[in-house]
Amino acid sequence: MKFFRKHFYHFFFSFLFISYISYSLIVYFIGSGKYQKTLNTQALAGQLIWQQNNCQSCHQIYGLGGYMGPDLTNIMSDKNKGELYAKIIIRSGTQKMPKIDLNEEQIDQLIAFLKQVDESGKSGVNPENINYFGNYSLAQNSYE
Ligand code: HEC
Repeated sequence: MKFFRKHFYHFFFSFLFISYISYSLIVYFIGSGKYQKTLNTQALAGQLIWQQNNCQSCHQIYGLGGYMGPDLTNIMSDKNKGELYAKIIIRSGTQKMPKIDLNEEQIDQLIAFLKQVDESGKSGVNPENINYFGNYSLAQNSYE
């Protein structure tokens, strides 16, 4: 016991140091890598069409982008919207959204892109999900 007390600072420092090293190693080797997915070929083609046609100037993804049209992050898993609904709007436009000249293959690629975007994140967190610490709790959100 005396030995422990005498060397308390050494133990304490070693504990902190080992914790720091282990944590750094975990972050370095595991990190958030397993949560990241790369886009498949079809979705990549869709992303290019998304960029070339400036969809982002009117729409948001993950809450970022223009505000003329709605956020499209989770439109694919939205029970009231989904693939067919999105295809129809992209094909023919609406009074507020211009009709964009795309063939069926390009529309399919855009849909593939939007599907992978949907799998990768959520947007539209309800304001009432703000917790005591000022963070959003992601357990529930407006799309589930
Ligand atoms: C000039 C602005 C503008 C551009 C550019 C634009 N959109 Fe839109 N989009 C809108 C607006 C506005 C709406 C809402 C339409 C409505 O309510 O009539 C909309 C609606 C949509 C919807 C349905 C969303 C929903 O939740 O109802 C989809 C899907 C969509 N757009 C996809 C696209 C894609 C893909 C592109 C690029 C190829 C694109 N838009 C480019 C303005 C735009």
